[in-house]
Amino acid sequence: MTKVLLITGASTGIGAATARAAVAAGWSLGLVARSADKLEALAAELGSERALPLPLDVGDAAAQQQAVAALVARFGRLDAAFANAGLGSTAPGIEGGDLDNWRAMVETNIWGLLATAKAALPELRKTRGRLLLTGSRAGRTAIKGSVYGATKWFVHGLAANLMEEMKEWGGSCTIIAPGMTDTPFFDSPKPDALQPADVAASVLFALEQPARVGVAEVYLVPR
Ligand SMILES: NC(=O)c1ccc[n+]([C@@H]2O[C@H](COP(=O)([O-])OP(=O)(O)OC[C@H]3O[C@@H](n4cnc5c(N)ncnc54)[C@H](OP(=O)(O)O)[C@@H]3O)[C@@H](O)[C@H]2O)c1
Repeated sequence: MTKVLLITGASTGIGAATARAAVAAGWSLGLVARSADKLEALAAELGSERALPLPLDVGDAAAQQQAVAALVARFGRLDAAFANAGLGSTAPGIEGGDLDNWRAMVETNIWGLLATAKAALPELRKTRGRLLLTGSRAGRTAIKGSVYGATKWFVHGLAANLMEEMKEWGGSCTIIAPGMTDTPFFDSPKPDALQPADVAASVLFALEQPARVGVAEVYLVPR
């Protein structure tokens, strides 16, 4: 039986690159995002026997519970979950920021990530599995007026607290903290940034450690 990984934000960017790297390393996958068409295309590319599309909005906690149940019904277990779905600011600063955008970031980057953790933990407990959260360089440094950065500070704090909770049953929580990465997160290409495959490789590094090794954080920056 292959190991099974749930990835949120799997339709593009870091999540899709992680899906490709994980299948190459022998994992079976559940693919979560809102764009059903992109998930179907990615699952077809990876092989439907290895990847299950699970289209949903991470803000819908009940849908995430059902998705984990469907994934376990399909592949028999859950060994790891990568809570990676996220979105950024449409306008910088507090004075200049947009309230609807802040709500969307809180619902996705914070609430949606919490709902992923809540849905995955009972299954991860059974396999002494790993939970990985996508933080950011923006969750480690002060950025003028950044609400996006503050959502990522939450993710970094939660990861440390989850590590303590998961340790009780032999699990572990990893924060994946990329610097700027060339993905559809940005409207224009970022040729000097990290590539999504670079971040995916750091996810696989954390996933493939021996059982005795917990990886607290992988922090990647462009050189
Ligand atoms: N790019 C960077 O420089 C950078 C640096 C540090 C951290 N990060 C973080 O890395 C993560 C992935 O971002 P990315 O750079 O790969 O950008 P991306 O290509 O825009 O990917 C974002 C992913 O999240 C999904 N998503 C967004 N809102 C969602 C929702 N409500 N429900 C379900 N899925 C949702 C998107 O799919 P749908 O639109 O199909 O739902 C997409 O698959 C994010 O958490 C981001 O904050 C990015």
